Amino acid sequence: MKTFEKGKLRVWYDEALLSVPPEQCFDVGFWQQQERIVGQASGRGTTWFIQLDNVQGALRHYRRGGLFGKLVRDHYLFCQWDKTRSYQEFQILNHLRQAGVNVPRPIAARAVKKHVCYQADLITEKVPNARDLVTILQENTLRDEMYVKIGREIRKMHDAQVNHTDLNIHNILIDDRERVWIIDFDKCGVDFSQDWKSGNIQRLLRSFKKEQSKHNIFFSEHSWQLLVSGYLPQVKE
Ligand SMILES: Nc1ncnc2c1ncn2[C@@H]1O[C@H](COP(=O)(O)OP(=O)(O)O)[C@@H](O)[C@H]1O
Ligand SMILES: [Mg+2]
Repeated sequence: MKTFEKGKLRVWYDEALLSVPPEQCFDVGFWQQQERIVGQASGRGTTWFIQLDNVQGALRHYRRGGLFGKLVRDHYLFCQWDKTRSYQEFQILNHLRQAGVNVPRPIAARAVKKHVCYQADLITEKVPNARDLVTILQENTLRDEMYVKIGREIRKMHDAQVNHTDLNIHNILIDDRERVWIIDFDKCGVDFSQDWKSGNIQRLLRSFKKEQSKHNIFFSEHSWQLLVSGYLPQVKE
């Protein structure tokens, strides 16, 4: 990881993946001018998919949700550079990749200090040919084996002691090779206690149920049992 520093700006980046100057890569207008925006997705804000030289990236500005978010939208209290959300997410992604969990490669993270606050952005590698679970389950059922695989991937993340504070089915992707990916590690951290793990799993179940009543997705108790069987360790004879 390389660091670029200029005044109130810090960018941390992987120079093997970032093929443009670090001070420009978070400017959506820059990508638009070069006609290198290849798509977009929406979550809290817009995620822009951009064409780098060798890979595609997903560029996201950090925004708050909820009522508080309406007041201070995208400003966070600054404490230290390495405590910024973008830097932390960059590090968590590297940690998870080293642990063999399918998460996007981090490409660049930015923090810009504004008085006592900062704003932040992140570019990760776009997971190629993937769709999120909500979209998939609106159209079709998933094969049994896929639920087991989702459970296994979450288990790997938990074995790496990463608490995903927003584990929902918008943040789980499946690609065209049937690989499961977990995304969106804002505010997530490495936590050596255990008590948050079942909370993550319960949140995921609530997310399935919510989308079932909202969007009528394919989902059943049987699907959930399969997912849990992938999550729980195999009993050795
Ligand atoms: N690396 C990525 N590869 C593919 N799609 C992505 C990637 N990162 C984000 N997305 C898409 O953008 C959406 C929003 O990004 P996400 O990181 O979940 O932020 P938030 O939910 O806070 O807006 C995701 O639901 C997903 O559809
Ligand atoms: Mg999300």
